[in-house]
Amino acid sequence: MGVVWNSNRCSVGSRGSGGGFIVLSLLLLLLLVPARGQALDGVVIAQADLQGLQAIRQALVDPRGFLRGWNGTGLDACSGSWAGVKCARGKVIALQLPFKGLAGALSDKLGQLTALRKLSLHDNALGGQVPASIGFLRDLRGLYLFNNRFAGAVPAALGGCALLQTLDLSGNSLSGTIPSSLANATRLYRLNLAYNNLSGPVPASLTSFRFLESLRLNNNNLSGELPSTIGDLRMLRELSLSNNLISGSIPDGIGNLSSLQSLDLSDNLLGGTLPVSLFSIVSLVEIKLDGNAIGGHIPEAIDGLKNLTKLSLRRNDLDGEIPATVGNLTRLLLLDFSENNLTGGIPESLSSLANLSSFNVSYNRLSGPVPVVLSNKFSSNSFVGNLQLCGFNGSDICTSASPPANMAPPPLPLSERPTRRLNKKELAIAVGGISLLFALLFCCVLIFWRKDKKESASSKKGAKDAAAAKDVGKPGAGSGKGSDAGGDGGGKLVHFDGPLSFTADDLLCATAEILGKSTYGTVYKATMEDGSYVAVKRLREKIAKSHKEFETEVNALGKLRHPNLLSLRAYYHGPKGEKLLVFDFMTKGNLASFLHARAPDSPPVSWQTRMNIAVGVARGLHHLHADASMVHGNLTSTNILLDEDNNAKIADCGLSRLMSAAANSNVIAAAGALGYRAPELSKLKKANTKTDIYSLGMIMLELLTGKSPGDSTNGLDLPQWVASVVEEEWTNEVFDLDLMKDAATGSETGEELVKTLKLALHCVDPSPVARPEAQQVLRQLEQIKPSIAVSASSSFTGEPSHTTATATTITDDTKSTATE
Ligand SMILES: *[C@@H]1O[C@H](CO)[C@@H](O)[C@H](O)[C@H]1NC(C)=O
Ligand SMILES: *[C@@H]1O[C@H](CO)[C@@H](O)[C@H](O)[C@H]1NC(C)=O
Ligand SMILES: *[C@@H]1O[C@H](CO)[C@@H](O)[C@H](O)[C@H]1NC(C)=O
Ligand SMILES: *[C@@H]1O[C@H](CO)[C@@H](O)[C@H](O)[C@H]1NC(C)=O
Ligand SMILES: *[C@@H]1O[C@H](CO)[C@@H](O)[C@H](O)[C@H]1NC(C)=O
Ligand SMILES: *[C@@H]1O[C@H](CO)[C@@H](O)[C@H](O)[C@H]1NC(C)=O
Ligand SMILES: *[C@@H]1O[C@H](CO)[C@@H](O)[C@H](O)[C@H]1NC(C)=O
Ligand SMILES: *[C@@H]1O[C@H](CO)[C@@H](O)[C@H](O)[C@H]1NC(C)=O
Ligand SMILES: *[C@@H]1O[C@H](CO)[C@@H](O)[C@H](O)[C@H]1NC(C)=O
Ligand SMILES: *[C@@H]1O[C@H](CO)[C@@H](O)[C@H](O)[C@H]1NC(C)=O
Ligand SMILES: *[C@@H]1O[C@H](CO)[C@@H](O)[C@H](O)[C@H]1NC(C)=O
Repeated sequence: MGVVWNSNRCSVGSRGSGGGFIVLSLLLLLLLVPARGQALDGVVIAQADLQGLQAIRQALVDPRGFLRGWNGTGLDACSGSWAGVKCARGKVIALQLPFKGLAGALSDKLGQLTALRKLSLHDNALGGQVPASIGFLRDLRGLYLFNNRFAGAVPAALGGCALLQTLDLSGNSLSGTIPSSLANATRLYRLNLAYNNLSGPVPASLTSFRFLESLRLNNNNLSGELPSTIGDLRMLRELSLSNNLISGSIPDGIGNLSSLQSLDLSDNLLGGTLPVSLFSIVSLVEIKLDGNAIGGHIPEAIDGLKNLTKLSLRRNDLDGEIPATVGNLTRLLLLDFSENNLTGGIPESLSSLANLSSFNVSYNRLSGPVPVVLSNKFSSNSFVGNLQLCGFNGSDICTSASPPANMAPPPLPLSERPTRRLNKKELAIAVGGISLLFALLFCCVLIFWRKDKKESASSKKGAKDAAAAKDVGKPGAGSGKGSDAGGDGGGKLVHFDGPLSFTADDLLCATAEILGKSTYGTVYKATMEDGSYVAVKRLREKIAKSHKEFETEVNALGKLRHPNLLSLRAYYHGPKGEKLLVFDFMTKGNLASFLHARAPDSPPVSWQTRMNIAVGVARGLHHLHADASMVHGNLTSTNILLDEDNNAKIADCGLSRLMSAAANSNVIAAAGALGYRAPELSKLKKANTKTDIYSLGMIMLELLTGKSPGDSTNGLDLPQWVASVVEEEWTNEVFDLDLMKDAATGSETGEELVKTLKLALHCVDPSPVARPEAQQVLRQLEQIKPSIAVSASSSFTGEPSHTTATATTITDDTKSTATE
């Protein structure tokens, strides 16, 4: 919503705001920022949650006495005395009692734990039904009830858990069909209903999951055809439907699963031929299609699957020859074509598969000599049942004229075929590699998908503010670049080093849109005549230093130049004392919204990006401290802006120097409410480099955990929470889910995460002397991820003006407005 910068020709409005907006903001203040006191109250459990836990206890049988501590009045259930219970603000957020030998049933009163995020009771002996009341748990992220004795149906109500990420009910005795309402849990990334007794079709609605990475429905009694829309599961990495009664052919759409690594459709009733599209999924590592009735040829294009390590097509109706291109699959460890109807020879190219350790072409109609490399490496068990094959241990010696390859093999007696079902252990080994990938994800569900409403709220409020503003200035007979036009009628515009050139009139007539409110004033995005943008900060009245001191300080700030500091390009001093600061405009906005207010379908923020931001902030801060001898004093994620390439630019640098002492102590008080304030500031009242480092540590924790420092958990602030979780060796749980996906791809990343976490905790050490200097933080970060050291900074001084500054939070501003 663009609002015109001013109405009466080109003067700047600078009056305060209407009463309406104060009410709105106070309301937001109450909603958005929990008071410290509330967090402390959290030790006493809420009544409904206590009743829920007591009912759960009642229905459980605990032969080994793990729940002995669940006694007394229970008012202390949240303080750690009730095993497996974790709370936040008096509400149970996690109930974790795996491997405890628990029997009995799971009470339906579970539905009273309305803040529950994780329920983990796997590997017990629980029976009865899976309570439908779980569907009331709107915050539930992880439901782990696998390896129990639950019977009955998968409750359709589970679709009500809109935030559910992991649903694992495998290894129970659940029967009935898979409810299509599960598709309502749109955020699922892992769905495991394997090893049950489920029947009916795989609901087509399940293909609507946009984030699903793992789908395991193997070892059930599912029938019907695979949904033709299966290719819609774009994020899918693992698909296991083995040991069911699925018929029809493999849908063409499977080729759209561009992230698929493991495909297991073995032991079903699939027919048709191998779809060509299957060979375009280059990410595939394992294919298991054994025990079906798939016919046709093995296509030559199979060598497109460069990453393939396991290919098992055993016991199908494949005919034609083994393509020589199989020899190009250099990563192959396992190759099983046994029990088909393949003809021709074994291609010599297979000799080049150096890592092949399991090979089987038994019971086909192959002919001719076995390549020497293969006959030396594998026993006769790999070749038997091909009457015209020669030259392997136990066969005929190949004569120069091998018999023609046209005699049918003896039919394989059915009784000789291995039993249809794989046992659990075999299957576990087969999918073991993939399981590892996901193992890190299992325990990581307590992630706050908190929508940061502050941004939108602040722009709404801003609009009201602007509408209420009145013109008090006169037409700005502004000046040219760097010149003064003093006197009653005009203001003064001063340019600093940089690419911007505009006159005071240009600036004052620009169309402006409110980006938000910050501690020091309102920030606008102004569109210049040539279509370029600048960010303009209008300082609040009566907070700046006196005229002369202000000029001295602002001129010093105008000289501050560093790729990771937002550049002040100009300032305007209006005839009535209005003060405008002009900065580069940053299209990507601030780090807080980048982390906490992402659109649900936007890609996750990678570790590389986060690290780049952390290093950028550390560089900027180091420059500020060491080269400019300045303290920031208000470093928060809302003051970190991002350029097009996600490079960090610290905003509001040195602005405290423009402000009166009274205004600055307000800032310190406000920063405290947001959790970025070092503890000693409550006594000190004056920021220094060590309090900046504390704020930097908070920003690093924010990057690692995806949590905002305003959030509290179990009544602990973010550093305390992280420290407590690390002590309990839940380390993986502290990291942002997006990062855990990243970390799952390599143990190196995992190590980097932990090192960075330690460094961040060092920065937020309660004792200021223990905290490192910005330079040490920078050096350690560069050691943790050396690639960043070279790639991070982008030079910007010659850049055009389309970069930067922005909104910060409204809450602190509201506070001071209210007290004015
Ligand atoms: C509850 O159980 C704990 C652990 O067994 C024990 O130390 C405590 O005394 C019990 N409290 C009551 C009130 O029974
Ligand atoms: C799933 O969503 C549909 C349509 O939005 C709704 O009618 C249905 O009640 C939902 N089911 C559950 C279990 O929430
Ligand atoms: C599949 O269904 C059949 C009959 O309906 C039953 O005998 C069999 O035990 C079921 N399989 C599993 C794995 O439950
Ligand atoms: C599986 O479910 C079918 C009915 O759907 C039932 O007949 C069969 O006994 C069940 N098998 C097991 C092992 O529970
Ligand atoms: C694969 O995805 C493309 C693009 O979304 C779509 O047009 C095509 O129909 C899909 N192919 C199949 C076989 O589903
Ligand atoms: C193949 O595997 C390598 C390493 O294992 C990986 O880096 C690469 O991305 C994979 N290729 C595809 C297409 O997934
Ligand atoms: C794949 O294998 C075929 C036959 O062995 C060979 O001619 C071809 O050059 C190979 N292609 C690549 C890319 O290695
Ligand atoms: C074969 O295995 C070795 C040892 O595991 C490995 O280093 C090598 O990269 C593998 N070769 C291929 C082509 O995958
Ligand atoms: C194998 O192929 C031959 C001819 O190509 C055909 O006559 C025979 O029926 C096939 N056998 C099976 C078991 O499919
Ligand atoms: C190859 O497959 C056949 C039939 O499935 C089996 O009898 C034989 O033991 C297998 N050989 C090896 C080496 O696994
Ligand atoms: C060939 O078979 C004989 C007996 O079956 C065995 O002793 C010998 O080790 C085998 N040789 C190779 C190379 O497998």
